[in-house]
Amino acid sequence: MRITFAEPTPPRTGILAIGLAEGLEFARIGAGLDKKSGGALARAMKAGRFEGKKGQSLMVPAPAGLGLDLVLLIGLGGADKLDALAAQAAGGAVVAALGGAGASRAVLLAEAPKGCKLKQAALAANMAYGARLRGYRFDKYRTRGDDKKKPRLASLTVQAKGAAAARKAFARLDAVAEGVFLTRDLVSEPSNVKSPKAMAGWARQLAKQGVKVEVLGEKKMRELGMGALLGVAQGSAREPQLVVMRWTGDPKAADKRPVALVGKGVTFDSGGISIKPAGGMEDMKWDMGGAGVVMGVLRALAARKAKVNVVGVIGLVENMPSGTAQRPGDVVTSYSGQTVEVINTDAEGRLVLADALAYCQKRFKPRAIVDLATLTGAIIVCLGSEFAGLFSDDDTLAEQLAAAGAVEGEKLWRMPLTDAYDKLIDSPIADMANVSAGRGAGSSTAAQFLKRFVEDVPWAHLDIAGVTWSKKDAATVPKGGTAFGVRLLDRFLADNYES
Ligand code: BES
Ligand code: MN
Ligand code: ZN
Repeated sequence: MRITFAEPTPPRTGILAIGLAEGLEFARIGAGLDKKSGGALARAMKAGRFEGKKGQSLMVPAPAGLGLDLVLLIGLGGADKLDALAAQAAGGAVVAALGGAGASRAVLLAEAPKGCKLKQAALAANMAYGARLRGYRFDKYRTRGDDKKKPRLASLTVQAKGAAAARKAFARLDAVAEGVFLTRDLVSEPSNVKSPKAMAGWARQLAKQGVKVEVLGEKKMRELGMGALLGVAQGSAREPQLVVMRWTGDPKAADKRPVALVGKGVTFDSGGISIKPAGGMEDMKWDMGGAGVVMGVLRALAARKAKVNVVGVIGLVENMPSGTAQRPGDVVTSYSGQTVEVINTDAEGRLVLADALAYCQKRFKPRAIVDLATLTGAIIVCLGSEFAGLFSDDDTLAEQLAAAGAVEGEKLWRMPLTDAYDKLIDSPIADMANVSAGRGAGSSTAAQFLKRFVEDVPWAHLDIAGVTWSKKDAATVPKGGTAFGVRLLDRFLADNYES
């Protein structure tokens, strides 16, 4: 979808969408049009009970006297509550409504209502951002014409006073959207195509944007002693990869240490010998969501030339059962030197992250580490798809992440870490087991496991198992891969580490 900005000059033909807040806004913004239509718009609003409430929308086809094919009214809610997220939701609603209507181009009138906290440029830019995010579609595997031709808005002109300022504000948001779309593409890709090597190949393409990319293959990882990650990979015919991506947007930073993002990249999680039941196993194609987010964040940082230094490390493996697969009860030696008794081969994400985390710290001595992983089904039991789980014993880092998530609409809920959970993963024969013997607190015991591979650095773990894939459309996130985490981390880095 092409998005452009222009000064407000209501079109005389085609489709016009208008964002309206609750109250008397229509009188101010839509009055001229209504008059021309002989009051048709006001009557339609009354008949359709459209009051400008958040989430409301009303289609008025070909109102008399206007020459327009369609007027779409989008509720912005109370002007005093109109923030960036509400503006994005309204922009998303425009695309959702018009996509279905089969329109190919439209004009959106995005005038700031009276009493709105957002500046005019920010309102218009955020409505455009919402439209951009909602307009995403993964249809590369559709070959039939009628599917391909599914209605889609090709161009949207956002009209607002001071269009140049809106255009500028949008450029930054649009860069983040690029990262979001990369992540959604990766998460949506089927696992026959999405091997660890394919993922590494896509990561390599970030070099075009100025990201330094390095790929470690199995041989190198064996030399380094990454027994935890390699144990997971050994059942698969596909070679594992560890990818290091560096964005150095602030080469003159006083503190040379980067912020590290570490991602779980299990390109398919069958469970291994502790195999999963068949129902829903296809979901495990997106068990690389954490790695996908790390790639998306780097893409966003590069696209907006962020003045920040970040290193991304992703562990890419496929977890398969086979004659070469690791067995329950096997003991592996991790890169950190600690040994792990693998009780359940389906608790593989933590094994991959253990080596990625330890390697990242040893090599880069980061200022802080945030890892992301579709780590546990238990976090879905706890939080559903409303929040991702946040685990950290650094209150400052936890608060910074939660605040960034709140601003971006990617909400985090802090979950407990404590020694009592740590004890549950002790093993009688190795330094630790990869699962606890009991059934409780599965997300916390997983987080405790990761914590054993982190030393003396502010660290947070985001369990995104419940938020990486969505079964229903949301305001700015069509169903499918959400890219939850990209916006959050981009904001977290911008607000706390960018100069
Ligand atoms: N990838 C799964 C977690 C998951 C479940 C992600 C559902 C997304 C949706 C992870 O590797 C896993 O299998 N975890 C096990 C851990 C258990 C064996 C301790 C789980 O949650 O059941
Ligand atoms: Mn698993
Ligand atoms: Zn997994």
